[in-house]
Amino acid sequence: MDWNNLNRDDIIALLETDDEATEQELFARAYELKLQTVGRKVYFRGIIEFSNVCTKNCFYCGIRRDNTHVQRYTMTERQVLDAARWAWEQRYGSIVMQSGERSDPAFVDMVERLLRGIKELSNGELGITLSLGEQTADTYRRWFAAGAHRYLLRIESSNPALYASLHPEDHDWNRRLNCLHDLREAGYQVGTGVMIGLPGQTAADLADDIAFFRAQDIDMIGMGPYVVHHDTPLAARVQHFDPQRQLHLALRMIALTRLVLRDVNIASTTALQALDPQGREMGLQAGANIIMPVLTDLEYRGDYLLYDNKPCVDENASLCRACLERRILTVGEEVGYGQLGDSPHFFARRDA
Ligand code: 5AD
Ligand code: SF4
Repeated sequence: MDWNNLNRDDIIALLETDDEATEQELFARAYELKLQTVGRKVYFRGIIEFSNVCTKNCFYCGIRRDNTHVQRYTMTERQVLDAARWAWEQRYGSIVMQSGERSDPAFVDMVERLLRGIKELSNGELGITLSLGEQTADTYRRWFAAGAHRYLLRIESSNPALYASLHPEDHDWNRRLNCLHDLREAGYQVGTGVMIGLPGQTAADLADDIAFFRAQDIDMIGMGPYVVHHDTPLAARVQHFDPQRQLHLALRMIALTRLVLRDVNIASTTALQALDPQGREMGLQAGANIIMPVLTDLEYRGDYLLYDNKPCVDENASLCRACLERRILTVGEEVGYGQLGDSPHFFARRDA
């Protein structure tokens, strides 16, 4: 196998292998390449989950519109600004603003005001990533002009048929793909990702996901294991949920994505830790270089549950920082405080 040039069959075989030594070699190769391309520094993106109000109805997600068991909240603008200020004072290079999907004018205006407010309170220093779903090209442009410079929009699966099986009919894969193009056009560093271990998903689908990231020339990857949420339609389709299998499949995807995409930023997502207490450290050791500590106010954390077993819902932001920093140091890495930590791929793409 040529590790510098893995083909589709290699990727499928590596996803499916039950040989532990092969898995260890995969992680070691990915880690080595990570040190060469993005280094040993882990960058923090403090995530503010500022609202769980969502107009969509994805079959897998705990805060989908039709889940009436969720207490809905939207943080006040003051609370969001305070959380952002805290992140800046802690020398986090950047924050992520995430919420359920809304596109009404009041929401678009509020986000625009928040972006300007955050830029102002941080002397323009704090980087801002948005993760606010599908919006019009005009909205993407307005938010970019107001100060956001990265955007995360997971394609969820690169296979349109699989996507269709996970969403109601009015959720459209092609529209989502177009959004990725609009984001690129508006000037953002663009991130996408998928869920790993979905019902009906094959190793070939996952290999094609990696090919999709490459074909779309993506700058950042945020992907994680699918984790059942008990109050969702998809839960009924999962006969046997095996956390260790999900964890290892997700780690292999991180490693393979590092090996194929080389110089992109890859997040070690919280969902890994829902499956194993060491999940996020394992993600770093498999090739990821970004961690997203939660900044959401304690009073709301328990209501932003996309999947079961979400960790850290009882921890406040300072505890999250200390805990993650300790986890990072234990695996021999360090935190890149006060740095944006942009994807080297973005500059390579821009300067090409
Ligand atoms: N398991 C794992 N990830 C999930 N997401 C939503 N629901 C789940 C779940 N049950 C992810 C989706 C979405 C992101 C914000 O959260 O990929 O894009
Ligand atoms: Fe809403 Fe996102 Fe959950 Fe879908 S995944 S229901 S868009 S919050």
